[in-house]
Amino acid sequence: MKEDKVIQPHHHHHQLLLRRLTVFSGNRLARPISFLLLLVLSYTLGYFSASPPPPPPPLQTPIDHHPTTTVAAQTFPDHNRFSTRCAAMPVPSKLIRQTVINRVFNGSSPYYSFPPPHVAHLLRPKRVKGWGSTGSVFETLIRKVKPRTIIELGTFLGASAIHMAELANRLGLKTQIICVDDFRGWPGFQTRFTDIGSINGDVMLMYQFMQNVVYFNVTDSILPVPYSTGSALEALCELGVFADLIEVDAGHDFHSAWSDINRAYKLLRPGGVMFGHDYFTAADERGVRRAVKLFAQVKGLRIQTDGQHWVIDSAESH
Ligand SMILES: C[S@@+](CC[C@H](N)C(=O)[O-])C[C@H]1O[C@@H](n2cnc3c(N)ncnc32)[C@H](O)[C@@H]1O
Ligand SMILES: *[C@@H]1O[C@H](CO)[C@@H](O)[C@H](O)[C@H]1NC(C)=O
Ligand SMILES: *[C@@H]1O[C@H](CO)[C@@H](O)[C@H](O)[C@H]1NC(C)=O
Repeated sequence: MKEDKVIQPHHHHHQLLLRRLTVFSGNRLARPISFLLLLVLSYTLGYFSASPPPPPPPLQTPIDHHPTTTVAAQTFPDHNRFSTRCAAMPVPSKLIRQTVINRVFNGSSPYYSFPPPHVAHLLRPKRVKGWGSTGSVFETLIRKVKPRTIIELGTFLGASAIHMAELANRLGLKTQIICVDDFRGWPGFQTRFTDIGSINGDVMLMYQFMQNVVYFNVTDSILPVPYSTGSALEALCELGVFADLIEVDAGHDFHSAWSDINRAYKLLRPGGVMFGHDYFTAADERGVRRAVKLFAQVKGLRIQTDGQHWVIDSAESH
């Protein structure tokens, strides 16, 4: 990319020069010196611009092979500009559950008269599957932070959320876990999860997650927010729903991870901790690790690791 940017102006410059020169010497071609000069210059310029013109730089500058120093950030400062603050008036911890129920579920708990009859026959009493969802990082951080509020981005069937709820209960904490997931999984995930049913193309993932929460008796600790991380975090930001601990485990491509991490960090209470999976798994290459590193660099934060997880403690800067 760097090369394109250096070469391209020269290339245009040469074409312009050549055009001017041709116009200038057009009516004097009879003069041999002019002609010779033109010949030599054209040759020289032709030498420089002989290779086919480089393609214009793509709008989204890929940074796969240029980690951390972003050409994009320097060339397009706007690319990196978004608000870094949320509502000035935080919702008090003890009002968060009711606030979410009011704003997201029109005042009535989603567990009320669950499961609906047209869905019940598609659910298993318990169907949990996670990825590193019971790693030591969860217990370490819950013991350390003693969170009143946890936001989880990426919940799937609830393995990590249920684990955190049980840990918090065991430690006698009154923790509310807000689970942000569109509960769609990913396109085609049912080829691997054949037992998660659908009704007219509507995946039953949220219902099976809720069934799991009911099964493990942690409905008091866990609330789903069944929207994309982008729109859900935007809403929580406007409402002032902040968290002491935020787990980032939704989209694992660079764009998703970068956006989720930036949005999540705004929702951390002072001294809060943000962490996520796939810093050291095959998925890290898809962008998680790159997004985490870039974010820590931009904010001057330190990345710690715990098993396959990354951890950023907002209280510990460089
Ligand atoms: C790896 S799974 C989460 C696993 C869970 N944390 C656990 O350990 O059991 C990723 C989840 O992120 C959700 N997801 C991916 N992109 C999302 C987005 N943009 N908005 C909301 N949810 C998303 C998917 O629906 C999926 O359930
Ligand atoms: C929301 O709740 C109010 C009051 O309980 C009710 O009148 C209204 O119909 C509900 N709206 C929806 C969309 O369910
Ligand atoms: C379920 O959890 C509640 C607290 O949220 C507790 O009071 C109740 O005894 C539990 N029920 C069972 C069957 O464990």
